Amino acid sequence: MTARVGDHAPLGVFDSGLGGLTVVRALRNAFPNESLIYLGDTARVPYGTRSPETIVRYARACARVLVERGVKALVVACNTVSAIALDLLRAELDLPVLGVVEPGALSAVRALERWVARAGRVPDDSRPLRIGVLGTASTIASGAYPRAVARLSTRYEVVGQAAPLLVPLVEEGWTDGEVPRLVVRRYVEPRIDPGPRGPVPGCTHYPLLESVITEVAADLAGTPVPVVDSAVATAEAVGEALREARIPGAPLTTDARLEIFVTDRPQSFTGVAQRFLGADLGSVEQIDLVSS
Ligand code: DGL
Repeated sequence: MTARVGDHAPLGVFDSGLGGLTVVRALRNAFPNESLIYLGDTARVPYGTRSPETIVRYARACARVLVERGVKALVVACNTVSAIALDLLRAELDLPVLGVVEPGALSAVRALERWVARAGRVPDDSRPLRIGVLGTASTIASGAYPRAVARLSTRYEVVGQAAPLLVPLVEEGWTDGEVPRLVVRRYVEPRIDPGPRGPVPGCTHYPLLESVITEVAADLAGTPVPVVDSAVATAEAVGEALREARIPGAPLTTDARLEIFVTDRPQSFTGVAQRFLGADLGSVEQIDLVSS
């Protein structure tokens, strides 16, 4: 499949559900003139508990829908798909394909470097700096984050924690209050120990819980803990990839549009998405991946 590389072609973004909107928000901030097509595979969320074979099948179906709509680059705004199927999508598609794991690893390393610079020294130089990753079961089992962090530096150690219950909480719009706080605490508590660390929400749904994660992690650690997400670094990587592939950006005069497709009834998605992205949410249309 080949990209339509005209400057008016949109960027394509997909996730299993709402989580990828965290990446859409960063892309809209970074590229206000670019049109975006977002696909949330709400009929099949969650992806994070599925087998690698199933995740690959779902990823191919999502990618096909977006490529057929003429996107100039594909952003896999899902850690699970990025961890399992990114190389395959890159090999199969003739357009830039960006994932969120590498930008997430980069954000974590940058956050820890800032932490160390502020602290002035590393508390114990003999121990690697720890990065906690909260992800879906598939993302954690894939080892994608430890690999991505190791490619950047050997100074860091990744401690992964699968946190599958956080995905349905976000899909339900339960992003604050006692219930998410207790669930986050249950996942984070066994992973908190002394020493600098930056928990990375290794699932694009989790930044919607950022304030709860920040509060619980600081409470457990007894000190503020940097919590980072990959959205802004992903937008930077998209910009770089477009420049490298010499794909033109949208002209300043473009009336940038956001088109949203989901694979199940749009009602509850629209409510949470509206709250998250603000009033200028575009249309939300239901499609069928198999027949589209
Ligand atoms: N938001 C996705 C991720 O980053 C998927 C969550 C899920 O569907 O389990 O992994």
